[in-house]
Amino acid sequence: MNALLGVDRLSVVYKSGLPALQNVSFAMNAGEIIGIVGESGSGKSTLLRALLGMLPDGGQYAGGDIIFQGKSIFSLSQKEWGSIRGKRMAMVFQDSGSYLNPIRTVGSQYIEAIRTHVELSKKAAYAIAVDMLSQMGLDEPDRMMSMYPGQLSGGMKQRTAIAMAVTMEPELLLADEPTSALDVTTQVEVIKRLTSLRASQGTGMIIVTHNIAVAAHMADYIGVMKNGSLVEFGQTSSIITSPRHAYTRELLAAVPELEGNTDGI
Ligand SMILES: Nc1ncnc2c1ncn2[C@@H]1O[C@H](COP(=O)(O)OP(=O)(O)O)[C@@H](O)[C@H]1O
Ligand SMILES: [Mg+2]
Repeated sequence: MNALLGVDRLSVVYKSGLPALQNVSFAMNAGEIIGIVGESGSGKSTLLRALLGMLPDGGQYAGGDIIFQGKSIFSLSQKEWGSIRGKRMAMVFQDSGSYLNPIRTVGSQYIEAIRTHVELSKKAAYAIAVDMLSQMGLDEPDRMMSMYPGQLSGGMKQRTAIAMAVTMEPELLLADEPTSALDVTTQVEVIKRLTSLRASQGTGMIIVTHNIAVAAHMADYIGVMKNGSLVEFGQTSSIITSPRHAYTRELLAAVPELEGNTDGI
């Protein structure tokens, strides 16, 4: 077992209001997939942003520690962060695809993104980009490289953004509702591709989803958040079959799919 991340009694407050995270603790090993579920406002996005060292404006760490690959993130210099964020630890959002620059081709921005992290010729970067796009299940990746984001569907853009995020083969991918904006068929496809990244790159992931069925399908462990606290955390099978917290039971009861099979999810 290879410890990847340890979160120890982490608390975060926003200037304006109640604590957004309260004493959140959990740990994960390399290559594990954690699903984080909970209602809107429970602190899921704040947790991911906190792990990446990028709290939104007005957010402050109020206690606890985050150990990534053996080192507290609070001890990292700017330079060390530069070598971790986007490389060892990457993030995708619900609408990451919409952040692609509309007036530049996919290829030119993808190649540039690669070359900010590693010294490579444009040709080598192009080859890496094409390979990643095809790993994300995009047909005709060469043709896509010369297209503009406006020529792509939402699902294609989101897959492109995910491909870009994982190009440096991060050990930890933080994904905040990465498929929520997509239609159901595309969601299934993107989830399959995310799961296959673990097989191909050994990527550990923390996936925030409001759909506990998605978490049940993908994750080794599920964490349930409520009002800034992690009220339950455990192996997916035990969370599904014997949830301890009343709130987890409510979430499970709201998902009809879980009573049958989750194959289609
Ligand atoms: N930038 C912000 N400024 C002030 N409060 C915020 C900010 N972002 C989130 N919050 C508050 O922190 C709490 C947790 O929000 P968030 O992490 O976005 O939850 P979730 O992702 O589970 O919906 C909520 O009460 C929310 O209103
Ligand atoms: Mg959120």
